[in-house]
Amino acid sequence: MGFNVNIDKVIRIRPDTLQGLKSKNLDEILLQKEVPMDINSIESFILCLLSAIEGGKADEKLIVAEDVCDWIENTFVVDEIKIGGQAGIMANLLTKLELADVLLSLPVYDASFVGLLHDRINIPFESNGKCSVQPITKLQGFEKKRFIHYIFEFDKGIYYLATSNSIECLRQNRFIASHDTVNSLLEIKNCFKKYSLENIQKYSIAIVSGFHLLNPEMQDNTTYYDIIAPIISMFKEWKKTNPDLKIHLEFAATRDKELIKAIFQRLLPLVNSIGLNEQELLSILETTNVTTYKKLRKEMSSVNLFEGILNIWVKYPHLRIHLHYLGYYLTISSRLHEKHAIKRKQALILSAVFAAVKAKNGSICSINEINNVLCSVSKSGYEEIEGLLSFLKSEYKSIDEIEDGIMSTDSFTVIGIPTIIVKSAQQLVGVGDTISVLALLLEN
Ligand code: GLC
Repeated sequence: MGFNVNIDKVIRIRPDTLQGLKSKNLDEILLQKEVPMDINSIESFILCLLSAIEGGKADEKLIVAEDVCDWIENTFVVDEIKIGGQAGIMANLLTKLELADVLLSLPVYDASFVGLLHDRINIPFESNGKCSVQPITKLQGFEKKRFIHYIFEFDKGIYYLATSNSIECLRQNRFIASHDTVNSLLEIKNCFKKYSLENIQKYSIAIVSGFHLLNPEMQDNTTYYDIIAPIISMFKEWKKTNPDLKIHLEFAATRDKELIKAIFQRLLPLVNSIGLNEQELLSILETTNVTTYKKLRKEMSSVNLFEGILNIWVKYPHLRIHLHYLGYYLTISSRLHEKHAIKRKQALILSAVFAAVKAKNGSICSINEINNVLCSVSKSGYEEIEGLLSFLKSEYKSIDEIEDGIMSTDSFTVIGIPTIIVKSAQQLVGVGDTISVLALLLEN
């Protein structure tokens, strides 16, 4: 599991929280429509936050000016400090649920991870020139670097501003502002590289993430391709030693089109599976297929979402693509054997149950918690899946309905399930990661 692990400081935005945002140019900020790529001032931070709330969108931006962090710390109340980064979140989850033996690439040895990372996670660590795996509590020689991500969680509702205006949010979601000097260069310890390669035969799945944080501006004469190059070699070496290894790449909100292009062109050919949400799909399509992008932006329907993932799949037919959306999940891959397709569908259903626990309680503490989930399946999600199935029947001659929600043509299999709706979720950060990792693991 690698490569992004960081600290998440969760800040809950309440209806009156934004009244405290006193900026000279708030009126002007409210009129701006274009959100900046990075946060380089307090004003740009406010603009990004307000536009995420107004759009009810899951977004993430990099803070490139350190004083913005000080301002955030002095302006908001931090409600909770948690492990962050997909790699950290997923490693904790799988270890806690005793679902897998996890080897984690920890990019920096920092004392603040102790107590947040599960102590049964294996972390390659070098001491006296020897590489071995150790729990987080046994690591020594801690370094001090900055890798704080502020998670602004907001509910559906009206938010009052310091001006006489207010903004309305139509969907509960979260906005992330990250100041990260470690994960932005995708740091990987040499010891992890060495240990993972020597032991890769023991592992069946590699889950990789964190590419969205890359920022070449943090180092002279570096490009996205330079940062990604060592990862590509590592993947190739892993696969050479263990050809059965499945590599899953989890997407996140990626702010730069150039970076999306680099991920799309260089990494997707090497991985077996990807997980993403609708916003992440939109940003990929914006750089790879503008017509499909525009259609999806206009109408977020199951047919348009399917066409979006189909578009990626046609370019990379070796991929299993898992899209998670509010109300339903869709997967596409090359045609599956019936038994495998049913297993994938069951894995998706179980991951939806776990995601409901995570959303409802903020975290999952034990496998038994799935017994307490109210299984109220999304009605609109169900209808969307039905709509997609009739579309597929009319569009593809060779279509075969294997089972409710499973359709195969000669070349691909699509699976769609409605998910569970949790009214007023506790916390949304990490729900997408939970869905992706559990669906993948339970299928294998
Ligand atoms: C992104 C963020 C990280 C957060 C994670 C949740 O990786 O950078 O802060 O914990 O998403 O999925």
